[in-house]
Amino acid sequence: MAYFMIKGGNVLAGSVKVKGAKNSMLPIMAAAILSSENREVVLENIPDILDMHMKKSILQSLGLKVSYGENTLCLNACEVNSHTIPTALMREMRSSIFLMGPILARLGKVRVTYPGGCSIGPRPIDLHLKGLEALGANIWEEKGYIVASTSGLKGAEIHLDYPSVGATENLMMAAVLAHGTTFIHNAAKEPEIIDLQNFLNAMGANVRGAGTENVRIRGVEALGSCRYRIIPDRIVAGTYLMAGAITGGRLTVRDIIPSHLDAVVAKIKEAGVVIEAGEDSLSVINGRLKGVETLRTLPYPGFPTDLQSPMMALLARAEGRSNIIESVFEARFKHVKELNRMNACIAVDGRTAMLEGGAALQGAEVSATDLRAGAAMVLAGLAAQGITIVREIRHIERGYENFDVELKKLGADIIRCEEGLSIKSGV
Ligand code: EPZ
Repeated sequence: MAYFMIKGGNVLAGSVKVKGAKNSMLPIMAAAILSSENREVVLENIPDILDMHMKKSILQSLGLKVSYGENTLCLNACEVNSHTIPTALMREMRSSIFLMGPILARLGKVRVTYPGGCSIGPRPIDLHLKGLEALGANIWEEKGYIVASTSGLKGAEIHLDYPSVGATENLMMAAVLAHGTTFIHNAAKEPEIIDLQNFLNAMGANVRGAGTENVRIRGVEALGSCRYRIIPDRIVAGTYLMAGAITGGRLTVRDIIPSHLDAVVAKIKEAGVVIEAGEDSLSVINGRLKGVETLRTLPYPGFPTDLQSPMMALLARAEGRSNIIESVFEARFKHVKELNRMNACIAVDGRTAMLEGGAALQGAEVSATDLRAGAAMVLAGLAAQGITIVREIRHIERGYENFDVELKKLGADIIRCEEGLSIKSGV
């Protein structure tokens, strides 16, 4: 198993180009199933990350032709020939649940295994299934699979109990070929939802309202191919900004949409960091880090749950107290134990983490408990005294392209090692 070895204390400087958003790429790759034309769908700005390769394998197992190179994906779905997602691949990638909508819309049947929980919570899918039933799907369980079938989906009024990102995306994709018009109320408003709408419309769909709580989908006969460039990854951008801030450096993230990070920029500024905005960039200029009274994660446009753990690493370095409330996921504090091993002082009470900042972080052997927690441990290692070993970095490589390489270019002392190599003291 690979791990990162980091010698803390270097001040990061320079600029990093951010690639396409993982959480746009995944639903848009699924939506490519809806194109029945024998012409390639071409997706640009696609990051070279593990989740892309996993999703590519799943789509190939369904009969799509998929190739990747130079941050570009080419997909041809004219010969989709399977409606069952392989269990092993489904277990690997729970977000495959939003393959249900496009497969059901295209083939009239889909079989998936329950995606199961993960380290950030039980990850229920009730909103997905209720929405698909509203569209006319019959859903039942069979030998551990969830099976959905339909003689033809019909437009419906759907009210989501919670603005679930995945459920909104799944139902948008299910509805684009349905007979009639569908309304999704209390829809998620993330930028990735707008990106999915724009991609679906580029293929010939008729979707309006993404980015608001009411999305309207008018069903059409069929969808064709298109060339589409996905939006930049706001979570990767925020992670690099925090890497600059935690080391007291001066760092610019480029090729982004600054407005996607408004809530994040506001909180980093509240923590004492100076931030300058360009047309397609954001720069952190070092400041004296101070605690923030309350950081509450919320659906967009609130502070994103995916940056909660990197922000916690930053606040562990700040002078004074901070309170972090995780209101989106049930159990997204697994990184607290790991940070406390590095001399952070964090207590958890339910969905609230209370930080006593200011103590110097000490290098230690820690693990990535999920994608974003792993990124948080790397950030802590950049600022810690001594050597930090971050294990289970496969989690990190699911969502960050060349994370160690980019950090090294910014001045970090980080190397990617394989287990079994002797660890020399010092790096
Ligand atoms: C998406 O997950 C993202 N993943 C997550 O990013 C992100 O943290 C999350 O949205 C919130 O922004 C992808 O886009 C691939 P949700 P998703 O459905 O769709 C509850 C990362 O690190 N819920 O909005 O699974 C659920 O339990 C990942 O990149 C139900 O109760 O998130 C949770 O508490 C992690 N029933 C809340 O809604 C349902 O049927 C938010 O979940 C569905 C969700």
